[in-house]
Amino acid sequence: MKNILHIDSSVRRTDNSTASYNSISKSFGRCFIDAWLSKNHQDKVVYRDLGLNPPTFISQDWIAAAFTPEQKRSESQQFALVESDTYFDEMAKADVIVITAPMYNYGMPAVLKAWFDQMLRVNKTFTFDLARGDFPIEPILSGKTLVLLTSSGEFGFGVGGVREQMNHLGPHIKELAKYLGVDTFYEIGSEYQEFADDRHASSVKKAKQDIAALVNRLS
Ligand SMILES: Cc1cc2nc3c(=O)[nH]c(=O)nc-3n(C[C@H](O)[C@H](O)[C@H](O)COP(=O)(O)O)c2cc1C
Repeated sequence: MKNILHIDSSVRRTDNSTASYNSISKSFGRCFIDAWLSKNHQDKVVYRDLGLNPPTFISQDWIAAAFTPEQKRSESQQFALVESDTYFDEMAKADVIVITAPMYNYGMPAVLKAWFDQMLRVNKTFTFDLARGDFPIEPILSGKTLVLLTSSGEFGFGVGGVREQMNHLGPHIKELAKYLGVDTFYEIGSEYQEFADDRHASSVKKAKQDIAALVNRLS
């Protein structure tokens, strides 16, 4: 049995009466999870919609608590880390992490960045040791797979694309994924949402086919 952590981060819902208002990235997440569970009935999914339930931004008190050794934390410092601990416990148990993300301002939504900020913690997700020289940070966890499912309004964000240099969504998440213990990373997405033309329809269709193929490959 595998544990799946499913994280959505669009602020759009999926139940709007006007279909075009619905989140595309969330629909990709649904496709992935439905296909996965139809093949792996026994697997367990933990779900979070960060768009509808945004994480708290970290604060100076949060940082002080995170950098205080666990045994020395005051009650209020322990309290400051409760949300972070909850996210960590969900993530640490997961074999597969599915993150869906719209492109907002060429990067990830603030709610998803807030989740990463709550998640990535010294002696929890990474160790810091100056004896390692110029690269003192190393992940603690390992062996996880991350599937990133995205939607963007413009196009050309892939390798060799006309906007490759403007893409701070996938590359940023891929970089951070190391500190979740991810050593296998997949990314599938659609583009052209803002053009609402045939290119968008084909892009969404292809993404859904790629998701089905990935589920077959991983199952
Ligand atoms: C606040 C905001 C910022 C956006 N910024 C970009 C952007 O920088 N580049 C882009 O290609 N599309 C951008 N878009 C378009 C979204 O990426 C697109 O609508 C996507 O489908 C949203 O994901 P969702 O359908 O899952 O909600 C933006 C949309 C919003 C609402």
